[in-house]
Amino acid sequence: MSAHTGRSSAVTVVGLGPMGRTLAAAFLDAGLATTVWNRTPGRDTDLTARGAVAAASPEEAVAASPLTVVCVVNYDASDAVLRQEAVTSALKGRTVVNLSADVPGRARDTAEWAARHGVRYLDGAIMTPTPTIGTDDAVFLHSGPRELYEEHRPVLAALGGTHTHLGEDPARAAAYDIALLDIFWTAMAGYTHALAVARAEGVTGAELAPFAQGIAAILPPLFTEFAADTDAGTYSGELNPITSAVSTMAHVVHASEAHGIDASLMRVIEGQARRVVARGHGSDGYTRVADVITGR
Ligand SMILES: NC(=O)c1ccc[n+]([C@@H]2O[C@H](COP(=O)([O-])OP(=O)(O)OC[C@H]3O[C@@H](n4cnc5c(N)ncnc54)[C@H](OP(=O)(O)O)[C@@H]3O)[C@@H](O)[C@H]2O)c1
Repeated sequence: MSAHTGRSSAVTVVGLGPMGRTLAAAFLDAGLATTVWNRTPGRDTDLTARGAVAAASPEEAVAASPLTVVCVVNYDASDAVLRQEAVTSALKGRTVVNLSADVPGRARDTAEWAARHGVRYLDGAIMTPTPTIGTDDAVFLHSGPRELYEEHRPVLAALGGTHTHLGEDPARAAAYDIALLDIFWTAMAGYTHALAVARAEGVTGAELAPFAQGIAAILPPLFTEFAADTDAGTYSGELNPITSAVSTMAHVVHASEAHGIDASLMRVIEGQARRVVARGHGSDGYTRVADVITGR
């Protein structure tokens, strides 16, 4: 129970950006008493209209519940809130689940800070956009003490979707997040570039999209195959050697630049593949790039 308000909640949400507001709404939908706080006032109107309690300060917010879910832009922002003396002191013996995104090192550093201050800490990452929250499509990753995760799982389950505990290392959720964001952003960059090149050739986005989806459908089995190949270090190029792949990369560069379209991303991709060939691995598959870019 909060010393300041005399009220108690099942969960507190700190950070009411698009994602934080959606998380708080999902807790309310599940019938959980929810306290909310945001640095900039006024972002909680819809939530308080639905029964959420607006805390007047972050220390009041975290003191209201045994569990605080933090969802702010990054760990500089979560530090700015959690490491205020009054907040840290109110958190002693309580649990923080930090669902803000950042790099693995920041997750580890926050877990160490939490341990030093008697704050029970789980790190996490949200892998799907706001409309999925509260539905079966939401994907949450968690890392940190398993016992703590099991203890708070029933409340976290109110957010819907699948929750996966990845291990005790607090940085593991962030490590997965970074790798998955790497896939997402390079895919988005590739598709956006493709739309620009197609447009320059008089092909509309609507005309290209069904075929783009065909390319996307090829990827899931390749993800599994490439993962096995990389784990085993086999880099099989039997069906598609990198010498052949590299020439199609050059076609993208030339076609783009003929239209004055920046092809620097594909130039980098082509350059990495050419380094593989130059090192005598031309008959290997594309996954050999993973070795070359890590200096192996
Ligand atoms: N939106 C999505 O679809 C999505 C999907 C997956 C993961 N995520 C992750 O979820 C997190 C939150 O995302 P979001 O969509 O809600 O929007 P966001 O723009 O990433 O974060 C906005 C929130 O961060 C707060 N904030 C920023 N700087 C702060 C500071 N110095 N001190 C305290 N609070 C600060 C903002 O407070 P003010 O209102 O005061 O500025 C606001 O509550 C991010 O890490 C994002 O990567 C989002």
